[in-house]
Amino acid sequence: GSSCRIAPSILNADLSSLTSECQRFMECGSDFLHLDVMDGHFVPNLTFGHPVVKCLRPKLPNVCFEMHMMVQDPEKWVDPVADAGGNLYSFHYEATKDVDLCIRKIKEAGMKVGLGINPPTDVNVVLPYIDKVDLILIMTVNPGFGGQKFMPECMSKVETLREKYKNLDIEVDGGVGPDTIQQCADAGANVIVSGSAIIKNENPTEVVKYMRRVIDE
Ligand code: DX5
Ligand code: ZN
Repeated sequence: GSSCRIAPSILNADLSSLTSECQRFMECGSDFLHLDVMDGHFVPNLTFGHPVVKCLRPKLPNVCFEMHMMVQDPEKWVDPVADAGGNLYSFHYEATKDVDLCIRKIKEAGMKVGLGINPPTDVNVVLPYIDKVDLILIMTVNPGFGGQKFMPECMSKVETLREKYKNLDIEVDGGVGPDTIQQCADAGANVIVSGSAIIKNENPTEVVKYMRRVIDE
């Protein structure tokens, strides 16, 4: 459905205290957590992978983890991520030679499917997959780092999808916060990933509440 859901990206959280950081960001009223997995090939940065989720899962049994797989050949990591306890596997159209195979593997592993596109990628490439996935991820920065500037030109892709698909879950990711959430709401996004705007704020609960209000109104 197109209910509002908000997920902090913990990329820029204090990774030396990840369990307590995850608890803290769930307590501020978020719906799930967004974990940015980067392999240094698909994007020019390296973060963490399924071993971290394996350790977090028993400590956060009821938290939904979206695994944002900014990796080459994402089909390779489906089973390790599922075994570790990932819930939503969001991979990039640009990173695989076989989107259908990747979708099938994710479903067989019992996870939900997210299909993402980067700012330069035309939104029409995802249309053949709409009824096979749970969510479309529209990047509003070039992936690789938190704290980058929101790219408003990507809103036209959200509008295109929302006009066609009333109930599709459309996620925006990158530079989303109180200053850019209105544009996301106007375009029709209903799933919000936000990193720095939540993580670096001394009152994350207020930020989450405000963004939810803007999306819901
Ligand atoms: C960028 C990641 C985003 C990023 C969001 O490659 O996919 O999830 O960490 O962080 P902010 O909201 O600070 O751009
Ligand atoms: Zn992300």
